[in-house]
Amino acid sequence: MRTQVGIVGGGPAGLLLARLLGLAGIEAIVLERRTPEYLRARIRAGLLEQGTVDLLNEIGVGARLNRERLIHDGVELAFDGQRRRIDLKALSGKSVTIYGQAEIQNDLMDAHEAAGTPIVYEAEDVSLHGLTGETPHLRYRKGGKQHDITCDFIAGCDGFHGVSREAIPPDVLRVYEKVYPFGWLGILSETPPVNHELIYNNHERGFALCTMRSLTRSRYYLQVSAEEDAAHWSDDRFWTELKGRLPPDVAAGLVTGPSIEKSVAPLRSFVAEPMRHGRLFLAGDAAHIVPPTGAKGLNLAAADVRFLAEALVAHYKTGNAQLLDGYSARCLARVWKAQRFSWWMTSLTHRFPDASPFERRAQAAELAYITSSKAGQTTLAENYVGLPFA
Ligand code: FAD
Ligand code: PHB
Repeated sequence: MRTQVGIVGGGPAGLLLARLLGLAGIEAIVLERRTPEYLRARIRAGLLEQGTVDLLNEIGVGARLNRERLIHDGVELAFDGQRRRIDLKALSGKSVTIYGQAEIQNDLMDAHEAAGTPIVYEAEDVSLHGLTGETPHLRYRKGGKQHDITCDFIAGCDGFHGVSREAIPPDVLRVYEKVYPFGWLGILSETPPVNHELIYNNHERGFALCTMRSLTRSRYYLQVSAEEDAAHWSDDRFWTELKGRLPPDVAAGLVTGPSIEKSVAPLRSFVAEPMRHGRLFLAGDAAHIVPPTGAKGLNLAAADVRFLAEALVAHYKTGNAQLLDGYSARCLARVWKAQRFSWWMTSLTHRFPDASPFERRAQAAELAYITSSKAGQTTLAENYVGLPFA
């Protein structure tokens, strides 16, 4: 088999790229190791920047998003029993959108099915070869048979645990990493959200986030130890702990109900540089991970893919390789700003087990400063809604 762009991974990054290339008349094949059913049900991100919403509209998958999304003009920070609202719209001119990653995954899969994009699900043992030569290729097994695809380029969109990044020699790749001493325990429930906007809570028992998927479906997260097992958390235990971490007026309005999903995600900051090796280009979580506190992961994946598609289209239409050559630097400039913001939001809102009394006091002062100063609120707002594309 032969294609122009071989894409490893059928998550948001892989499917967005395949769509952008398809619309530009560039052939792509997607290799995904999971089943379609698994991908359609996978619950992850919930908050989209306007740039991500615009991209989904530009590629014709925004119809349901525009009907069902919730638009938030503000966000709250709660600490010391008080609530402080940051008026995102007034401070930055922009709003954010609530629309689940699972919905985006479904919308993209529906669009690809209709367009007939070749997506190989349950592709096993995917491996990458000949990256620094003229004809890189992908090898995989499916149904007991081995297959080979010769490509012009390979896009590694296979997430943090994928194989693409591993195919870059260690002497080429520089890795920057910070692992946090906690994780997030998240639940989803068919209950109305406790507040019409998100609330990030800094409490002595640990961080808690109140978010949502719709007006009838809530998502809540609790800071827990990184090794915590979700199986040790009954719904009752979760709701009691959550109530204990919310300001009293918020806790009083919390509607509880059975959970539909419950899982623990570790928190990590990670960047691999460069995002290109020969004819392999990394995009999304394959190249970088942020702690979810800034809600940046999916939005960064969308930005990478926008740049990569632009570069590939320029190459095929005009033979100009300038954008391909500049891809890694262009992405990383934005990635590092989002890394800094996600790390900072995490530092501001979580309780660090090893924080000294001095550090704890400084954190409290920073919360008071950020929420009371217009400059402080603006710096949070302009990063939270998403920095401009360069
Ligand atoms: P993935 O979604 O990981 O997709 C990679 C795909 O590659 C997967 O389908 C995988 O099955 C496939 N794959 C892996 N290995 C192989 C292989 N060897 N062969 C073939 N296929 C392979 N981001 C936000 O922007 N906003 C939020 O509000 C937000 N909240 C989050 C909350 C939580 C609890 C978590 C865990 C994450 C959150 N994120 C958020 C981050 C966001 O979910 C990720 O950044 C996003 O999924 C990245 O997309 P991706 O396509 O790069 O990677
Ligand atoms: C979510 O809705 O799942 C969500 C929202 C904001 C975050 C993280 C997760 O910062």
